[in-house]
Amino acid sequence: MSVLTENKLSPQEEISILKNTKNAVILAHYYQEPEIQEIADFVGDSLELAKKAATTNADIIVFAGVHFMAETAKILNPSKKVLLPDLNAGCSLAESCPPEAFQQLKDKYPDHVVVTYINCSAEIKAMSDVVCTSSNAERVINSIPLDKPIIFAPDKNLGRYLIEKTGRKMLLWDGACIVHEAFSIDKLLELYAKYPSAKIIAHPESEEHILKIANYIGSTSGMLNFVKSSDQDTFIVATEAGILHQMQMDVPDKTLIPAPAKEDNSCACSECAFMKMNTLQKLYNCLKDESPEIVLAESLMKAAHRPIKRMMEL
Ligand code: 13P
Ligand code: SF4
Repeated sequence: MSVLTENKLSPQEEISILKNTKNAVILAHYYQEPEIQEIADFVGDSLELAKKAATTNADIIVFAGVHFMAETAKILNPSKKVLLPDLNAGCSLAESCPPEAFQQLKDKYPDHVVVTYINCSAEIKAMSDVVCTSSNAERVINSIPLDKPIIFAPDKNLGRYLIEKTGRKMLLWDGACIVHEAFSIDKLLELYAKYPSAKIIAHPESEEHILKIANYIGSTSGMLNFVKSSDQDTFIVATEAGILHQMQMDVPDKTLIPAPAKEDNSCACSECAFMKMNTLQKLYNCLKDESPEIVLAESLMKAAHRPIKRMMEL
């Protein structure tokens, strides 16, 4: 890290000084590189990070996550400066749902309540009745009157899982997470045959056949809590590999095995390339330059705030 070594301070020390001088807070998702998680003031799942962003007193929020998460932070706390170390850190789910096409679907089904997973753009949120995350999706769906038909977007895997859990009929947008669709059911079953006492834990963005054999399904925080509270000692983990850092720290004596991907073992399919665009150097640069910043039109923030607020109230 050239800029930093001149002063003989470690990157972590440089970031810490900048953070204190500028009254900034670093919020990081569990899928970030370990060195970023370690320097963060708070690490959490999407819902926890949104709550932290909404209540922070810091002047600057550095969001070590992906674009839709930083946007949500800005919408929830518009007077703060929200920085994202790499503006290209997107999400395959958010990209799968362009506003024009989504408007066409809405126009076709005007009587439907629109529930969107938080992994979508601010424009899509603004077109929604209520937002949800993987940790509260079931509760959000159950809050909708039984006589109301539902459109759920953009994740068809989470949507299908919710249909099964709640018994509600829902029209699903055809989006998916590239990371969670990369797991191989055949290889997973082979692995399970070798570790028959292992518990399989999966994020609900995973495909149906993976969820069918999972012993626990939940958000990143839910998975961490399950592993901590379980009396089992071996777990096969079907979500982005970054979570293993915090998980192994939480349960140092337990065995954690990443679920195998469809491609051969040399690929980094279970790593989210978008999440991994953020690096310590980029985090330092963005804090120093106060850029790249998330900037959204006032009217868009207002419209997107309503369905997020509704979720928070639930
Ligand atoms: P969580 O809300 O469970 O942290 O999930 C976020 C995400 O992007 C999963 O791929
Ligand atoms: Fe999006 Fe999947 Fe990456 Fe999560 S893991 S940010 S859903 S692409």
